[in-house]
Amino acid sequence: MKLLHVDSSILGHGSVSRILSAEMVAALKAGRPDVEVTYRDLSAEPLGHLTAGHLGALQGAPVDAGLQSDVDAGKTALEEFLAADIVVIGAPMYNFGIPSQLKAWIDRLAVAGKTFRYGAMGPEGLCGGKKVIIASSRGGVFSAGTPTAAFDFQETYLRALFGFFGITDVTFVRAEGVAMGPEARAKAIDDAKTEATRLAA
Ligand SMILES: Cc1cc2nc3c(=O)[nH]c(=O)nc-3n(C[C@H](O)[C@H](O)[C@H](O)COP(=O)(O)O)c2cc1C
Repeated sequence: MKLLHVDSSILGHGSVSRILSAEMVAALKAGRPDVEVTYRDLSAEPLGHLTAGHLGALQGAPVDAGLQSDVDAGKTALEEFLAADIVVIGAPMYNFGIPSQLKAWIDRLAVAGKTFRYGAMGPEGLCGGKKVIIASSRGGVFSAGTPTAAFDFQETYLRALFGFFGITDVTFVRAEGVAMGPEARAKAIDDAKTEATRLAA
């Protein structure tokens, strides 16, 4: 069982999504020696923004020497994703969406013929069978039914994106309202940790 663990928070050890993604991975590994973990920290080792040079490289065009290592890093990121059975992603809400580091990673995964393809019937996801668990953290509250639910371009985007890749098994372990005081923050994190343990059982 291959598990890919990805973090994207820029906040280092103070990061809520990092605490939750680590908790989720630990719970999934507990008592399962067959789980093989690959870890990628998109803040410590960011992928570059997608450029015409990257797209050209996918078509076999010559790659500028300065771009080669980033093109190679993107290929490795895609291979890790394709090989994984389970993907656990620490994904905070930044400015109502996701961190740009996480978007840069997604831009390297969205490769026609690898994660999706278009045919006569429209788009077809090629990654069905994978399980994705998102460790989501956000300062405010955006859950369905709340007045600010329409401002959620983080979880809704990630669900749509992985759905486009053919992945229907997408689960969120969520700590929200973490900017609404120390008690609210502590409770949100505790509840999300409990949810992670429940999900892994
Ligand atoms: C750059 C930045 C942008 C943020 N934007 C939002 C936002 O739009 N809405 C929100 O509710 N919280 C926002 N927050 C608060 C974070 O979602 C919250 O602190 C969360 O815990 C971040 O996850 P992390 O601790 O793993 O980085 C923002 C925080 C940062 C650092």
